[in-house]
Amino acid sequence: MTKRRILVTSALPYANGPIHIGHLVEYLQTDIWVRFQKLRGNDCRYMCADDTHGTAIMIRARQENRSEEELIAEMQASHERDFADFEIEFDNFGSTHSDENRELCAEIWQSIRDAGLVKEKDVEQLFDTEAGTFLADRFVRGTCPKCGATDQPGDNCSSCGSTYSPAELVDPKSTLSGTTPEIRSAKHLFIELEQLHEFLNDWTQSDDRLQPEIANYLKGHFLGDPLRDWDISRPAPYFGFEIPDSPGNYWYVWFDAPIGYIASTKQWCDKQGEKLDDWWKSDDCEIHHFIGKDITYFHTLFWPGMLKTAGYRLPTKVHIHGFLTVDGEKMSKSKGTFVNARTYLDHLNPSYLRYFYASKLSAKVDDIDLSLDEFIAKVNTDLVGKVVNLASRSAKFVAKVGLSAEYPDDGGLFEHAAAVGDQIAEAYEACDYSRAMRLIMGLADRANPFVEENKPWELRKDAAQAQQLQDVCTIALNLFRQLAIYLSPVLPRLAEQTGELLGDPITNWDQAKTPLVGTPVNKFKHMLKRVEEKDLKTMIEESKETGEAASAAGETATFEDKWNDGGEALAAEPRAEECSYDDFMKVDLRVARIVSAEQVEGARKLLKLRLSLGGGETMQVFAGIKAAYEPEQLVGRLVVCVANLAPRKMKFGLSEGMVVASGPGGSEVFLLSPDDGAVPGQRVH
Ligand code: 2FM
Ligand code: ZN
Repeated sequence: MTKRRILVTSALPYANGPIHIGHLVEYLQTDIWVRFQKLRGNDCRYMCADDTHGTAIMIRARQENRSEEELIAEMQASHERDFADFEIEFDNFGSTHSDENRELCAEIWQSIRDAGLVKEKDVEQLFDTEAGTFLADRFVRGTCPKCGATDQPGDNCSSCGSTYSPAELVDPKSTLSGTTPEIRSAKHLFIELEQLHEFLNDWTQSDDRLQPEIANYLKGHFLGDPLRDWDISRPAPYFGFEIPDSPGNYWYVWFDAPIGYIASTKQWCDKQGEKLDDWWKSDDCEIHHFIGKDITYFHTLFWPGMLKTAGYRLPTKVHIHGFLTVDGEKMSKSKGTFVNARTYLDHLNPSYLRYFYASKLSAKVDDIDLSLDEFIAKVNTDLVGKVVNLASRSAKFVAKVGLSAEYPDDGGLFEHAAAVGDQIAEAYEACDYSRAMRLIMGLADRANPFVEENKPWELRKDAAQAQQLQDVCTIALNLFRQLAIYLSPVLPRLAEQTGELLGDPITNWDQAKTPLVGTPVNKFKHMLKRVEEKDLKTMIEESKETGEAASAAGETATFEDKWNDGGEALAAEPRAEECSYDDFMKVDLRVARIVSAEQVEGARKLLKLRLSLGGGETMQVFAGIKAAYEPEQLVGRLVVCVANLAPRKMKFGLSEGMVVASGPGGSEVFLLSPDDGAVPGQRVH
């Protein structure tokens, strides 16, 4: 087989926070894939870097009274330690705040300029007068202008995935000061993505570069309309690279972040005496990006657009994964399920999580769930019970004599497991690790009965059975070794221990095809202990405390943590089909005052209301709120009503409008009221 050259990346972690178990889904997914490729003999390289620019870092450095450089250096050291301790092995881990990146940004920028894709526009941006800075992306939260989802960041909506500028957000609030920011105008530079529409249409929809659900999503959400210009500059103050031909303006962090993939490769090339072009401009090299579904847009539209324009090679595949949930829910600081990598490491073995994630990951974009019970079961039953036990129950009996000189007859077990290797490899290649793990555990399920039936612990009691004992252990250890080879992308530590035990390091997939014979066996050292529920509990407790300490220190919790609103109401009544602004404006919503309210004789649900729109104009409305409100509570209060609803003749009289309310009905009806200051007759829009 020819050796493939493969460059692999994971999304660059933001330098403004620690690595947590949610991030680890991706880094472990990628690391496993890279280790698999290396084990297969491919020339595979794993590049990553810290993503260091943007307002978040600038603000935090200010708050901590130190330079951004100092802050990002500290974060980088902490990220690298966490990754190393999880056995995530990069060929290079760089930083977007590097000379290499600055130069590459300038070069790529120039190509984009030369291609006539850059234009200037004045942009109204939100400015926090209290903090003295323009507010971007994560520092504004408000309502998505497209779908109406609340508490969304300023750049893209986590609910409908659309991107927009912060000034387009409805009802924005600065997360820095909590104040309502004011709109200020400044010059921004834009990339006209629409010029690349045809190319992107083609690129995203062909050659299996993207998972089918992603290709369809792009087609349905973005490619059907003209692509929007992409705002890639930010005015000072901003922590980033100043744009050489536009002083006072900086590249937006999302411009220089993906270029960080190339910059990190450049650093590695310079150290290794390799040529960058052999990796990023050559058709002989594959490029694979691993990312989470939240940053699909950047990696499947902007990024290929930039690469194409600048003459770089395009990604072979973008592998997109879902989010992590814990026990079926979003990770939560208050519940202690928002676990930092370091907290995990303080209590549990990284191999457990590596194996658990592998057993859950597939090539689909679905979210994956970390159920704590399942975690314990998988680790203890599969990993310790079925795999490690094979070695621990046989190795000690042959420490003196080593493996038999010839591989004994095992009824075809070894041969079968060798043959299944191809299917396991296919599953790894396709990122279907859960299938790979199932196949491997299937092999373990065949190997274990062999040991149980042949009982080496009995054989050892009888000296006359010495040969039989050696043969049984030779088989058990070889079957174990096959599993360790197949698992080695997931469990590098176990592979290492196996190499030490049998005096033969695991370095290649094909080692699973030939049994070891006639070699010494070293003294068995304990490999992996069972996971204890109490350690898991302590970890959760400690994460709760960290979460509480952070919120006490004023760190902004995510809105889910803060309010923990359930999704039942939305699930009970999903959002309606899109309507245009014009459609919406057909409904004339007005502030009104309830000037009288009375019971209606014979009506089970209705109250009769008289609404005033001011200036003597009134409407009679029958409202189904009897179970929820007493008439006298209502008189005098302001509500919102539909003022142009066609009058309806009801049994009890004419209803000339409607008051708006939420809730499932019955006694659970909640009238809407405007804030103080609103007056009857005002239109709601
Ligand atoms: O979403 C994030 O966490 C970003 N820091 C990912 C950047 S990926 C790449 F483009 F640099
Ligand atoms: Zn939205």
